[in-house]
Amino acid sequence: MQALILAGGEGTRLRPLTLTRPKPAVTLVDRPFIAYMVDWIARHGITDVVIACGFGSDAVREALDDGRREAPRLRYVQEPEPLGTAGPLRLAADQGMLDDRFLVLNGDLLADLDLSALIRAHQDRRAAVTLALHSVQDPSSYGLVRRAGGPHAPGGSATAAGGEVWGFLEKPTSEEIDTDEVNAGAYVVDSSVIQLIPRGRMFSIEREVFPRLVGRGLYGHRLEGYWMDVGTPERYLEASWDVLEGRVRTELGDRLGGAGLLVADEATVDPRASVRPPALLEPGVSVEADAVIDRAVVGRAAAIGEGATVSGSVVLGDCRVGPRALVEGAILAPGAVVGDGARIGAGSVIGEGARIEAGSEIEAGARVDPGRVAS
Ligand code: GTP
Repeated sequence: MQALILAGGEGTRLRPLTLTRPKPAVTLVDRPFIAYMVDWIARHGITDVVIACGFGSDAVREALDDGRREAPRLRYVQEPEPLGTAGPLRLAADQGMLDDRFLVLNGDLLADLDLSALIRAHQDRRAAVTLALHSVQDPSSYGLVRRAGGPHAPGGSATAAGGEVWGFLEKPTSEEIDTDEVNAGAYVVDSSVIQLIPRGRMFSIEREVFPRLVGRGLYGHRLEGYWMDVGTPERYLEASWDVLEGRVRTELGDRLGGAGLLVADEATVDPRASVRPPALLEPGVSVEADAVIDRAVVGRAAAIGEGATVSGSVVLGDCRVGPRALVEGAILAPGAVVGDGARIGAGSVIGEGARIEAGSEIEAGARVDPGRVAS
């Protein structure tokens, strides 16, 4: 079986992380985001992966070219301009890359949903498209899918795992919500659907293709398990703890076995520093005396100064956090520098190579662009 991963979005909600590299190449915990996806789909028998890239395609290739992966086979489609979520299927098909049936996946999923069950359900019904559905507690920021046999009232329960789709609702108001099943961004698609997609222009699979298939072989199939669309800084942080604490199946989580703590042999931690799980300290990291690392990722060669606190935060490779600085609930892109005694407020995202001046206070939820100096 084959999969096409949509990896060409701008990732505006994750800016400034996505200003210097595309979302699939952004590091999540210890590896580029898309590496988790490839591992996940490979566990479900996917042997051939086509990655549809827009801007930053070199970074996506580099992210996956780690020289140790034997399977699946990876190929790339380069869009001359963004083609949306459907256009890349047409482009890949025109380049002779797609089989009669294939999986399509949004490129920002961290999940361990049972794709094998989705593929089986699709084959059993001889469907045109089968959408993976996932139940979420608050569906208001997602695309809801209404289907036969689904839970039609809040608190209602589905009478079957799958059924024919009869409607969609994007980002509904609370009064409109009549199901907890959302489009999980993973579909099995029959190649006959390609003819609905025009060539060479932006086209949306959710808004312009699926509605036309209602009553013509469009099914939804609910899958249980871990699922997260890692589209915002809040979800990026949540996803990091979920990987470290093993809430989603990943190679790293399997290795940690639920301990949630990995300090690389090549990391230097002063005996007077404190490291509390979940935490990952990568090779080359240095943590000085009296520093506190509490629920954090500290990437390769990052340095945490004396008496500094990094809590609920991700500090990517080559960052410097100065003595007595406080980084709480924030994300620091690679090479960011936080000056002595500076304070970074919760929910802030500091871009690649940006510098926060000593003693300054960055307010909660701030975004600092790559390379900028902020005070
Ligand atoms: P936001 O800008 O923050 O909404 O993120 P996004 O760019 O990821 O957009 P969205 O979540 O709507 O996209 C869903 C999936 O489709 C993501 O995996 C995107 O990478 C992908 N995608 C969106 N637009 C394009 C495109 O023009 N080309 C390709 N190849 N993929 C796209």
